[in-house]
Parts: sequence; C-alpha cells; structure tokens
Amino acid sequence: MQYLVTSDLSNLSAFSCVVAGVFKDLSLTSVASKLDELSGGAITKFLEKGDFNGGAAETQLLFDVAQNGPERVLLVGCGNADEIDSEVFNKLNGAVSAALKKLNITTVFNGINEVEADAYWSVRRTVQTYESHAYQFDQLKTPKPDEQSTPEIALSLFVAEDSEVDANAAIEHALAMTAGMTVCRDVMNLPPNICHPRYLAEQASALADQDNVTVDILGEAQMRELKMGSYLAVGQGSANESVMSVIKYTGADDQDAKPIVLVGKGLTFDSGGISIKPSANMDEMKYDMGGAASVLGTMKAIIELQLPVNVIGVLAGCENMPGGNAYRPGDVLTTMAGKTVEVVNTDAEGRLVLCDALTYVERFDPQCVIDVATLTGACMVALGKRDSGLFTDNDDLATDLLTASQKSDDYVWRMPLHQSHKKELESPFADICHAGGRYGGAITAAAFLWEFTEKYPWVHLDIAGTAWVSGKNKGATGRPVPLLTQFILDSLT
Ligand code: BES
Ligand code: MN
Ligand code: ZN
Repeated sequence: MQYLVTSDLSNLSAFSCVVAGVFKDLSLTSVASKLDELSGGAITKFLEKGDFNGGAAETQLLFDVAQNGPERVLLVGCGNADEIDSEVFNKLNGAVSAALKKLNITTVFNGINEVEADAYWSVRRTVQTYESHAYQFDQLKTPKPDEQSTPEIALSLFVAEDSEVDANAAIEHALAMTAGMTVCRDVMNLPPNICHPRYLAEQASALADQDNVTVDILGEAQMRELKMGSYLAVGQGSANESVMSVIKYTGADDQDAKPIVLVGKGLTFDSGGISIKPSANMDEMKYDMGGAASVLGTMKAIIELQLPVNVIGVLAGCENMPGGNAYRPGDVLTTMAGKTVEVVNTDAEGRLVLCDALTYVERFDPQCVIDVATLTGACMVALGKRDSGLFTDNDDLATDLLTASQKSDDYVWRMPLHQSHKKELESPFADICHAGGRYGGAITAAAFLWEFTEKYPWVHLDIAGTAWVSGKNKGATGRPVPLLTQFILDSLT
C-alpha cells in the first residue's frame, strides 16, 4: 500500500472507493456529508432504511451512489463519537482494511481519519494497522502457479489542511516501525533449523550497510575470554554455537553521548534442556528469541528514521538443548560478574543468558538498559496476552515506558519488584539460585536480572504473552517494536 495525505474533498469521484464514517446516531462525517450532497441525499436515504446502524466497525459497501461520483462507497460505523478511543479507532481501521482486501481497486480515499482528533496519531495508527494486517509469512511455501498478485492500492488519508506536515511525519514513523515489525516477525516465524544464533547474527550484520552502524559478532571463543560462564553453559548442549550480536547505531551529533541499550533474549529454540519441556506445543519455543527479534526490529526502525540518538542493540543468541554435554540441574556456574549461580532447572535458561549480556553492556556506560525477553510462562499466567510485564526499580523509566506504551498501543503493565523479592533466590551452595518457588515466577526472574544491573538505570520487559499468537493462526506479533521505537522517539524531546 502507498500512503498519501490530502485535505481536498473536491475530487472524490476520482477514487475507486471512498471510505466514509457514520456515527451511531446516524450523523455523518464530513466525507459522508460531502457524498450525501453529491448524490442528492442518497446516503441519508440509505440510512433511513434502517439496514445500517453505525455500530463500531460495521461496514457496508454501496455502488454508484452518485452520478459522476466514486464507483464504490464503503460506509463504516464509528459507534458513539464520545466513545472513540485508540482501541475503537484501531478496530475501525481493522474492519476497513479487511473490507478493502476483498475489492478489486487501486485508489482509495480514506475519510475516517477525522474521527480521531489528532491528525498525527490518527494517521500513525491507520498506517500501522494497514501495514501489520498486510503482513504475510509465506517464504517457506511453494508458490501456487495460478496465484495472481493483487494490485497495489494508493490510499489517500483525509486530514485538515494545517495538519498535512504532521500527517506526513506520521506516515514516515509508522512505515519505519512496521518495517521493523516485519523484520522482527520474519525471524520469529522462521523455524529453528534455519534461524539459529548464527543466522540472527547474519541478520544483524545486514544492518551495517549504513555509515553510522557497526555490528560486532561474538562467538563462544570470545565469550570464554570474557568469562561469560553462565551464558555459555546454556548453549553447551547444542550443536549450534552461541552467538551474541552487538549492533551500534551512532545517530547523535555527539558520538560519545551515552547510548540507550537494548538487550534481547535470543533463544532460537528452548527445549528446556535436561529439565525438558512437555512435547505439546514445543514447536512454539522457536519464538523464545522474540526479545532479540524485537531489538533487531527496533534497530531497523531507528536506522531507517536516522534518529539523532545513540542506541546499541544486543541479540543474545543461544539454543537450549539436552545432550551429553548439556548443563545440568545442580550445576554451579560462574557469571561474568563473578557471582556464582546454582542451577535448579535448566528450563530457566533465559535469565542465565541475559545476566551475562547485562554485565557485558556495562562497558557502554549506558544512559539506560532495557532488556526484552520471553522470559516466563508465569508472566502470561499473571497478565494474559494483552500486556507485557514491566519490571524496574526506576520510577522515571517506568513512567516513560508507560507513556510510550499508551501512545503506541503496545500495552505494558508495571509489576512489583522489591528488595524482598530477592529472598526467593537464596542458595545453600552458591551466591544465588536462579529460580525460586511456585509463586510469582515472573517477579523472581526479574529479581534475578536485577542483581546484575546495579551500574545503570534498568527496565526488564517480559514479553512471553505478547510476542506471539498461538492457535490456528499462530505467529509473531511484532511486539514490542512499537513500544521500544516510541520510547526512543520520545527520548529526543
Ligand atoms: N521461554 C520460557 C518461557 C515461556 C514459556 C515463554 C511459554 C513463552 C511461552 C522460559 O525459558 C521458561 O521455560 N521459563 C520457565 C521458568 C521456570 C522453569 C522457573 C517457566 O516459565 O515455566
Ligand atoms: Mn526455558
Ligand atoms: Zn526460554
């Protein structure tokens, strides 16, 4: 889809379809009024028949509404005007996007942007909804010979004349974000026999085609030199080498300005290791690299936008497998930070990989570090699949992320994290244990990471519930790329 901005209502007949909003009280948006006027009241007459009620996301296609008018009009119910929030607005766009997919059209005039007052957000949300609905993952399917490619649609977004500049910025931001989401979703949807830690590193390296991007790849030999004993232990049962990718984007005028650092859990497959998982749905554990994928996607978005900020993205690639060489429950590991850790369950591997990656990034003197991880099933049990869990002892960072979340419709919920939670991690054999009792498992995992983040302001995002949709249409969501990109955009102001 190609996106344009217009404030001109005088040429509606030139479009193969005009999308026009009608509210629950059957009042008309300005585009619907204009069509009503052009057609000598045909829209009003249609509404009087009572077949269409203006309920939120109700759609109705009308043909040849006016002589010399557009070929098609897609009426969209907008519900009650005072109840339109971002969730309703996104639902309207979802319904329109689905209805348009069925039509053989090339030009669309989208007249429902005005129902959300702020042009920037209205256009940002619209483009994001269309682009994420258009995503398909078919690169591993043999193409059917008779399949025709659908023609590209040019969508004109109707906004007030004085907001065209804002609307164009919104398109640019939305397209960069959705390009990032596509990168994120593609690597997540790829199977673990293709997307292994080295493959992730190759995707990271592909970003280095810009002057202000460099990528460092660390294999197991380098990790051994750095004494990353915890990270290495998790990968030692796998035939695929552990690989950590470090993507450095220097966009700020001051090259030495403290970077924002993103660290992603990149378990390209998590079998559970010796504490092996049940086999039902184990295939889905290829998405255990969703944290790393979202960091890769966010780097893609900010590089595309060339934002004036320094950001470092770390993909902590690893595979957790059982085997004769695998780490065991009972092992005591020495982390890069020097702390010893007792392993009680090899399926609590993400925190063991991340703790060393979090120590590694101290060298960048970060302004803040956000780690992103499909870390616990417990987080999904606690919060469901709408909200990512946010854990931090830093109230300012929590506020900034909650703000970015509201703007980007990429929801997070702040979870408790207190010194007393560290009590769960006491060990009779080592400095700490990596897992605790049955309750509050997402918090215990966060408390473990907290032990390794004393040198900088830090936030942990548990995305186990939000990065992936299960069931018949299983696949990656691209979250939290919008949240992270928005957080970085907001850091500029
Ligand atoms: N990758 C899993 C968490 C997970 C589970 C993500 C389901 C997405 C969907 C993680 O490595 C894990 O296995 N965590 C364990 C921790 C437990 C052994 C302390 C869990 O959540 O059960
Ligand atoms: Mn696990
Ligand atoms: Zn895992």
